[in-house]
Amino acid sequence: MKAEREASCKETAVPSLFFLLWLFIFTLAGVCGVNISCPSPLVRGTLGGSALLSVSYTSTSSDKPVIKWQLKRDKPVTVVQSIGTDIIGNLRPEYRGRILLYENGSLLLHHLQLSDEGTYEVEISITDDTFTGERYVNLTVDVPVSRPFVHIAASSVLELTELFILNCTHDSGTKPTYSWLKGGKSLTNDSRLLLSHDQKVLTISRVVMSDDDVYSCRVENPISSMKSLPVKLTVYGRSSLYIILSMGGIFLLITLVTVCACWKPSKKKRQELAGQSRQNVAEQNNGNHEGNVDILPARNYQNRRNPGGLYVLKETVRNYYYYYYYYYYYYYYYYY
Ligand SMILES: *[C@@H]1O[C@H](CO)[C@@H](O)[C@H](O)[C@H]1NC(C)=O
Ligand SMILES: *[C@@H]1O[C@H](CO)[C@@H](O)[C@H](O)[C@H]1NC(C)=O
Ligand SMILES: *[C@@H]1O[C@H](CO)[C@@H](O)[C@H](O)[C@H]1NC(C)=O
Ligand SMILES: *[C@@H]1O[C@H](CO)[C@@H](O)[C@H](O)[C@H]1NC(C)=O
Ligand SMILES: *[C@@H]1O[C@H](CO)[C@@H](O)[C@H](O)[C@H]1NC(C)=O
Repeated sequence: MKAEREASCKETAVPSLFFLLWLFIFTLAGVCGVNISCPSPLVRGTLGGSALLSVSYTSTSSDKPVIKWQLKRDKPVTVVQSIGTDIIGNLRPEYRGRILLYENGSLLLHHLQLSDEGTYEVEISITDDTFTGERYVNLTVDVPVSRPFVHIAASSVLELTELFILNCTHDSGTKPTYSWLKGGKSLTNDSRLLLSHDQKVLTISRVVMSDDDVYSCRVENPISSMKSLPVKLTVYGRSSLYIILSMGGIFLLITLVTVCACWKPSKKKRQELAGQSRQNVAEQNNGNHEGNVDILPARNYQNRRNPGGLYVLKETVRNYYYYYYYYYYYYYYYYY
């Protein structure tokens, strides 16, 4: 009946005539057609929950209407057909036990599945009426999003660092959309604060001091919205790095000076030893040189607190030189 009407409309090629006809049909529909109203053309459902595809109709006739709900697909799926609230025929297996029709033509769906998502068309006709009313209701089915987390490689970063990445992830939730907050204010794509296409990853390029702030990310879908715990990013200035480095340098210098100061007594000891060796030389003019050398350094080591292996080796070598030097010196001294 509807198809016939549409076909006849197409045949009337003259635009003005078509307009007049359309006006006529419109007026007629108001008079004796079914007028369906739909307060919410978009219904957001939760997986496992219920959704009411709410409509109501007005008609001049008091007869029971024929109601048909279809899910729009490439090949439309008939969800339910009824006369009044009495369902005609058998329901498809996927709809059994989870469908309810109301007097006003509304459809209640229980135990929502992700596959229920789509555009639904309702047609309501009353046998007496010439025209069928129709409406579209969109249904979304989603899983609520879980709390997201912000992943960062480190909680502090040095000023002028080329790239710093903040990564937002979440465990569950369908159709997530991401957004970022810096110090509680939403961030927009910027030449320096770059958001990835899906806004999951925030990349800070050429870090500046003003990037030192609290960051959080938000995940939303049609039924839920969650915000991550805030993450504090600390930016260290280059100047503070120089201070740290120069402090380190000063500390190193002090350490070196202290070490040098501690080394000095060993020279004195050397002189003492030299004095002793002088006596030895005096006592045994023709004595065995190597014999003395072996004994003296041994005493020397016992007095030293913590001699390192390499240090000992060096000292040994140095002492040999000193002792030889002194021996030769005193040999010369005594002979000439
Ligand atoms: C259908 O009803 C609405 C209000 O309920 C009204 O505004 C609209 O004009 C009606 N449409 C027709 C074709 O009568
Ligand atoms: C249709 O009826 C149902 C159940 O009584 C009600 O919840 C819903 O709001 C009604 N829809 C409209 C559009 O009035
Ligand atoms: C319903 O869905 C269709 C197809 O996805 C879309 O074109 C239309 O704008 C949607 N309507 C509403 C009210 O969301
Ligand atoms: C973000 O984190 C996810 C999960 O930890 C990981 O798979 C992804 O590679 C990360 N992306 C970037 C740009 O670091
Ligand atoms: C932000 O800008 C960059 C480059 O200008 C672009 O690649 C990226 O897709 C943009 N992100 C968003 C969410 O628009």
